[in-house]
Amino acid sequence: HRSIFFSRHGESQFNVEGKIGGDSLLSPRGEQYSHALPKLIMQHLGSENLTASDPMVWTSTMRRTIQTASHLRYPKLQWKALDELNAGVCDGLTYEEIAERYPEDYANRDNDKFNYRYRGGESYRDVVLRLEPVIMELERQHNILIIGHQAILRCIYAYFMNLPRDELPYVRIPLHTVIQLVPKAYGCEERRFKVAI
Ligand code: F6P
Repeated sequence: HRSIFFSRHGESQFNVEGKIGGDSLLSPRGEQYSHALPKLIMQHLGSENLTASDPMVWTSTMRRTIQTASHLRYPKLQWKALDELNAGVCDGLTYEEIAERYPEDYANRDNDKFNYRYRGGESYRDVVLRLEPVIMELERQHNILIIGHQAILRCIYAYFMNLPRDELPYVRIPLHTVIQLVPKAYGCEERRFKVAI
């Protein structure tokens, strides 16, 4: 059986500051995670899959995912479609700042997180659409490791686990954790590997 591995990027500078979006680099803890990744992937890939070109590593075009993948010695591909949900005018703000500056938007997002579209940005619904080509390609590939972002990985996870839209924006995708999905005849088997940093 083939596996889809995915992980959020290591903790970023913006994660530390509680800011959303941006294109920041990794924090020292995030860097530690990037160093721990190669061994972890090696351990859980299964010996039958240990070839030089397997798995392919997919990242977004953002620095924090590229930096997280930097020590992995596999072929890599950057997808613009894997970039984090665009928060528009809220990019770079903390949730507290958003609640203060755009109270109505904050409430609307809370009411319908899947459909809420940031001003000048995207909704989860938009992201599901732009991920279509990525998902099509994922269906055709052998082992893939995606180094991605919280909202993006929620959409991919929900697709493979058949989750309803109202649950999708709340899926728990913690930092410093590799999730392995193994597609079987009736749904996917799931494993999670947490790196203690
Ligand atoms: O905080 C990290 C982050 O990836 C932000 O860049 C993004 O806006 C957010 O998570 C998505 O999570 P939520 O939809 O729960 O705000």
